[in-house]
Amino acid sequence: MAMASLQFFLFTCLLLYISSPSLAQQSFRPKALVIPVAKDASTLQYLTTIDQRTPLVPADLVVDLGGRFLWVDCERDYVSSTYRPVRCRSAQCSLDGADGCGDCFSAPRPGCNNNTCGVTPDNSVTHVATSGEVAQDVVSLQSTNGRNPGRVVNVPRFIFACAPTFLLQGLASGVAGMAGLGRTRIGLPSQFAAAFSFRRKFAVCLSSSTSANGVIFFGDGPYTFLPGIDLSQSLTFTPLFINPVSTASAFPMGEPSAEYFIGVKSIKVNEKPVSLNTALLSINNQGVGGTKISTVNPYTVLEASIFKAVTDTFINEAAAMNITRVAGVAPFEVCFSSSNIFGTRVGPTVPSINLVLQNQDVVWRIFGANSMVAVNRDVLCLGFVNGGSNPRTSIVIGGQQLENTLLQFDLATSRLGFSGTLLGMRTACANFNFTSIA
Ligand SMILES: *[C@@H]1O[C@H](CO)[C@@H](O)[C@H](O)[C@H]1NC(C)=O
Ligand SMILES: *[C@@H]1O[C@H](CO)[C@@H](O)[C@H](O)[C@H]1NC(C)=O
Ligand SMILES: *[C@@H]1O[C@H](CO)[C@@H](O)[C@H](O)[C@H]1NC(C)=O
Repeated sequence: MAMASLQFFLFTCLLLYISSPSLAQQSFRPKALVIPVAKDASTLQYLTTIDQRTPLVPADLVVDLGGRFLWVDCERDYVSSTYRPVRCRSAQCSLDGADGCGDCFSAPRPGCNNNTCGVTPDNSVTHVATSGEVAQDVVSLQSTNGRNPGRVVNVPRFIFACAPTFLLQGLASGVAGMAGLGRTRIGLPSQFAAAFSFRRKFAVCLSSSTSANGVIFFGDGPYTFLPGIDLSQSLTFTPLFINPVSTASAFPMGEPSAEYFIGVKSIKVNEKPVSLNTALLSINNQGVGGTKISTVNPYTVLEASIFKAVTDTFINEAAAMNITRVAGVAPFEVCFSSSNIFGTRVGPTVPSINLVLQNQDVVWRIFGANSMVAVNRDVLCLGFVNGGSNPRTSIVIGGQQLENTLLQFDLATSRLGFSGTLLGMRTACANFNFTSIA
């Protein structure tokens, strides 16, 4: 009796001992993950890098905040021993709201297999979409304690879509695809949250510099930036809205938009209300109108009447500050001589633009660093562009207006947290400490 239990005890010890290295590795559960984000100087696209495949290769990807999933070029140089196409009618296939089940009439390779589930990868920069097979492969990225990157973790069967090489046209040179952070079950935030059982939250902090990286966190805070400021403690919250009609270039009927919409109720310039057709500010049954946040538009795009109202007020307010208007420089219509404009920590002293959200106290304030673009030494332009009449979405808040602001997206509670300009807090999105402590 005693002998038997001793043997059993020894046996369990041995088993634990033998399996402990791999057990330890598997049982490490990160609370959050972190990836760098670079700003590409020639396209103004925001790029990240995620290791994928076996053996691992770094894949450079354009960050697409409202993109539905990760898609990569599988036609050129996709070599991986762990690539698995997702079969028709499988559980993974139903996760992605796939629009088809396909065969491929050439030699099998990644992106070309029979009986696979299909989706429509979308180049949201050029608005070109095509069909592609759904697949799974390993991705690898760094965990974080919110202050530094830590141990590398793997997601062995990360779901993504394969695209043909031509879909890369219009993207920064060297990229392999787009990283969709949209609100779908196979968007990056949901897949990482599911893989490591953390909250479906992520945060984006875009750098204004093309030489210093910003950062994306998957999971909850802290989000700590040098000199030690945890930005998760200084967020203002506003509801996220679901647009009932997809805004993708191609999509299955009935699919809601994966993009992030917020409720701008009014706009003020230098605290003066701008008179707007408020019907344009909400999303109608056809999915038209409203305000979304985009990382693929370099500048905010305003529907024509909103653009005119905002810029007219801005021009008047600038004139009252003795700022001299000069000719527009494409794509900008509203430009000024920089001679009468002074610099401050939050950028050039120009009229402030406030997006008023659910009530008068919840305001997204846009100061000079986020509103103005220096097109040359003598000219500063208002970095907003005219979206013409009848655009799908009335206000698209673009990259320049997002920079040096931390944005936290909470998919479970449908809530956006935003920090206000980090420049006012003596930090910046480029201040995450990327020195690994693994
Ligand atoms: C798919 O099946 C068809 C018909 O059986 C065959 O001709 C084709 O080569 C197969 N394609 C792949 C990629 O296996
Ligand atoms: C603008 O210039 C005028 C005339 O030079 C001056 O009287 C006024 O005080 C200036 N206003 C501001 C806001 O600097
Ligand atoms: C960045 O983190 C590393 C590791 O904790 C630390 O040694 C280094 O001092 C940090 N850098 C700064 C500028 O604080």
